[in-house]
Amino acid sequence: MPAFSATSPGKIILFGEHAVVYGEPAIAIPVSTAQAKVIVSARIQGKPGEIIIEAPDISLSSSVDQLEPNHPLRAAIQVVIGEEDLKQVPSCTILVTSEIPPSSGLGSSAAISVSLIRAFSAFLGKRLSDEQVSDFAYVVEKIHHGTPSGIDNTVISHQKPVYYRKGDPFEFLEIGEEFSVLVVYSGFPGNTREAVDGVRERWQREPDRYNQIFTRIGDITNKAKRIIGGGDTDRLGDLMNENHELLQEIGVSTTELDRLVLAAREMGALGAKLSGGGLGGHIIALIESENDDISKEMMKKGAKSTQITHVTSRAPYN
Ligand code: PMV
Repeated sequence: MPAFSATSPGKIILFGEHAVVYGEPAIAIPVSTAQAKVIVSARIQGKPGEIIIEAPDISLSSSVDQLEPNHPLRAAIQVVIGEEDLKQVPSCTILVTSEIPPSSGLGSSAAISVSLIRAFSAFLGKRLSDEQVSDFAYVVEKIHHGTPSGIDNTVISHQKPVYYRKGDPFEFLEIGEEFSVLVVYSGFPGNTREAVDGVRERWQREPDRYNQIFTRIGDITNKAKRIIGGGDTDRLGDLMNENHELLQEIGVSTTELDRLVLAAREMGALGAKLSGGGLGGHIIALIESENDDISKEMMKKGAKSTQITHVTSRAPYN
């Protein structure tokens, strides 16, 4: 029996993180310079239903039934087999690897879930649409993050830039003119769950103030969508700066992220903001072209890594 494999990109959120949890729109794009990969191979000698998970990045080597019932990798397998009894499933080994730094705002958990769901369903002979893969990955995202908006699983399973509003059918984003985004890893892991929970607590204490901020972020996202579609993308910089300020206001930035955002602007980026859950992780900056100087300066300022993503309407997106 051949092996079945699937790879998935990471993602960045260009506009609208956190507000998207409260029903505002957000824009995200896939980033394929780092990928998650899952390979499922049959174990000829294995007992029916015996599934071995190998995830060397997290030093995991275990039979699936020995994992906690709500372990995300187990949940991804369970969601594919649905009501079927595990004992009916042919024995296999599932190898999970990922180059996407975890807890960094690049969607590593969704990329692993999407890859696992694709490879494992192919192994079982089930054909899933991108939509089904996304829905299944959303089930696992809820285990990881509590109340995810669903943007990560959507952009990663469809592998195209998306405009997303929870509860509405998502739209593929129209891109009038290619633009470049510098993606900078602060080297400090973020914690999306903690960030989202913290925002929720503060929103409960000051609902009016927070609702106003979320509405303003939603307006920025909608303006950005129009600008991206129209092609006058230099104007996105100011919107990124405004979006970052509002993310600071809701308490999800850090001194380190602010420092990198400021340094990117000082070095000539047209705008910069944190991306993803925050409290660490990545910042992104709109840059004019392959501006190496900004990348070098970011590294001098303590960034762990940088990469440039060209946002186009054509795949691949990296
Ligand atoms: O940290 P990430 O890459 O998982 O992004 C989280 C984005 C949030 O808007 C903060 C949460 C969500 O579920 O949309």
